[in-house]
Amino acid sequence: MEKSIFGTLSSGAQVHAYLLKNSNVEVTLLDYGATVQSLKYKGVDVVLGYKDIKQYESGDDYLGAVIGRVANRIKGASFTLNKKKYSLYANDGKNTLHGGKNGFNAYVWEVENYTETEIKFKRLSPAKEEGFSGNLLVGVRYYLTEKGLGIEYTAVSDADTVVNLTNHTYFNLNGDETAENMFLKINADYYTPIDKNLIPTGEVLPVKDTPMDFNWAKFVGKDIEEEFEQLELAGGYDHNYVIKGDGFRECAVLSSGRKNILMRCFTDREGVQFYSGNFLKGEMGKDGYEYKKRYGVCLETQSFPNAVNEKAFKSPVLKKDEVYKTVTEYRFEDFLPVE
Ligand code: GAL
Repeated sequence: MEKSIFGTLSSGAQVHAYLLKNSNVEVTLLDYGATVQSLKYKGVDVVLGYKDIKQYESGDDYLGAVIGRVANRIKGASFTLNKKKYSLYANDGKNTLHGGKNGFNAYVWEVENYTETEIKFKRLSPAKEEGFSGNLLVGVRYYLTEKGLGIEYTAVSDADTVVNLTNHTYFNLNGDETAENMFLKINADYYTPIDKNLIPTGEVLPVKDTPMDFNWAKFVGKDIEEEFEQLELAGGYDHNYVIKGDGFRECAVLSSGRKNILMRCFTDREGVQFYSGNFLKGEMGKDGYEYKKRYGVCLETQSFPNAVNEKAFKSPVLKKDEVYKTVTEYRFEDFLPVE
């Protein structure tokens, strides 16, 4: 077990790094944001991260962090629950993004337990934080599988509230300048189209015969510049896909020809936000690479964005004393392309 000091925040608080390790996988996690800072499969680091805590503190790319209370956007920074209107902090134009001004990514989490292969972070998000109701006790347990990383999220609240937790890790299995040359498959026949503020319109449309279709693996960049309104609105992919089936199942597969690594994402969630890193602006990464536009891609398993305001979407409301529990795993294997 290795625990070390990663850095000091502007508040003076110390941030620690924790290492999880088995014979295939090595993961470095920070208590700041319960963040995945590095994830190595057979020695190859496949995620984006910073070396310096100041970059985590000042950046707005949410690298590797846990996102909460509510991932993605809430339209008009408000919602109604039990006939009461809640007003949130608008940090993305008129809307709330990734929890508000200080989302869960911007707090130092407590460590409840830590072994060589798992760690559990916890945090109490007090009632009224960012405008949400209920004292919410959140747990995020990272655990190694034989060849991967699992994330189990739990939460319980003392009043009805809204919860949609995810992890914002950017993957680049090649470790070179772009994520566009990775193969991606998403097990989804439908997606939720967005408006100009990147918020779902409420429709659920088929991906068939559009550049949104990833049912057959294709390069991330294959259709990304097509004249297709949905891609133009977001400057690439930034869409929630409706994962086929239910229960714990495979949701997407990402692979790299160059490094012969394949990653399967499994989840019990109903949606996955495929974000092709369109807002990355060239921040210096931990390995000396500049994280330019589309350097990494996120597969954020989640409830549908803005579901709290959209009757057609499954409700993200967590009732008082009910237990929220959800699991996502990123599993790696060796991928040998056909000669
Ligand atoms: C993603 C979101 C993007 C962008 C990004 C952070 O989850 O879908 O629109 O906000 O986070 O830069």
